[in-house]
Amino acid sequence: MSSFDAFADFRMTGHKALVTGGAQNIGEAIARTFSGAGAEVMIADLNGEKAQATAAAIQAETGNPVLGIGCDVTSEDDIQACVQQTVSAFGGLSTLVNNVGWGRSYDDPLAVPIEEMIESYKLNTLSAMRMTAACRPHLLQAPNATITNSGSLVGVLPAFDFIAYSAAKAALNHLMTGLAHYFARQVRVNTVLIGTVITEGYAQAGLDAKVQEALAHPDNLTGRAGKPQDVANAFLWLASPAGSWVSGQTLQVSGGGKRVRLKPE
Ligand SMILES: NC(=O)c1ccc[n+]([C@@H]2O[C@H](COP(=O)([O-])OP(=O)(O)OC[C@H]3O[C@@H](n4cnc5c(N)ncnc54)[C@H](O)[C@@H]3O)[C@@H](O)[C@H]2O)c1
Repeated sequence: MSSFDAFADFRMTGHKALVTGGAQNIGEAIARTFSGAGAEVMIADLNGEKAQATAAAIQAETGNPVLGIGCDVTSEDDIQACVQQTVSAFGGLSTLVNNVGWGRSYDDPLAVPIEEMIESYKLNTLSAMRMTAACRPHLLQAPNATITNSGSLVGVLPAFDFIAYSAAKAALNHLMTGLAHYFARQVRVNTVLIGTVITEGYAQAGLDAKVQEALAHPDNLTGRAGKPQDVANAFLWLASPAGSWVSGQTLQVSGGGKRVRLKPE
């Protein structure tokens, strides 16, 4: 039997994590993975009841403390209350995951209402900035502190039919790379550029045909859509000590592919 434990650096025992939008899909997988690795986890979600139910289910699976709380990440009051409750519950906060994000599709990118552009920026970009600001004093006191963000492939390869979302996710990349430099040697900051992950949200948005088109394209090197766990594994690497030499990066976790948007004839 080997005396070398290759998984030791991936353990998150002693980490105190806050995962936004963790009640379902990708955020839920991140919360479950961190908890399974030993972290204490707070799930903050607009749907507080679902956050609590998901937290209880994960805790039953992993045996580690997981809590759920209702929080609108576009509300400054909610952000402050959520961070306060996390710190009260766990005695600190070392690991922030800014996972909330969403985008609506429009056939004509120049017909997107101004209000939609602003709302997308508030939800996908400013929420992560404000959550980071609220967590800052706690992160600065924590060993191995990290911020890891749910970015998108469309933040570097814009989709014209998701232009508000693409622009907001691109801004998230710049914001977080800038903050990685601000937090140098204190808090590591990275953003995962997520490709097409099959979730309930995708089914509801009715994107099946477009998703199929992207998956069939030769640029998709792995030939399949992602699972939430594919993404959560990358978050575990970046947020655990295993990623301790990585900061200020955007990491593409997308099946190796490009999301292709060809304008229909
Ligand atoms: N699913 C994909 O294929 C995909 C691809 C690229 C990037 N992403 C990004 O990954 C992240 C997670 O995606 P997902 O598909 O799991 O999302 P999802 O829509 O399935 O879940 C998002 C969660 O966030 C919560 N939420 C929404 N608005 C909120 C708010 N204002 N405050 C707090 N919570 C709020 C929802 O209740 C939900 O539980 C997002 O940032 C998304 O942009 C997803």
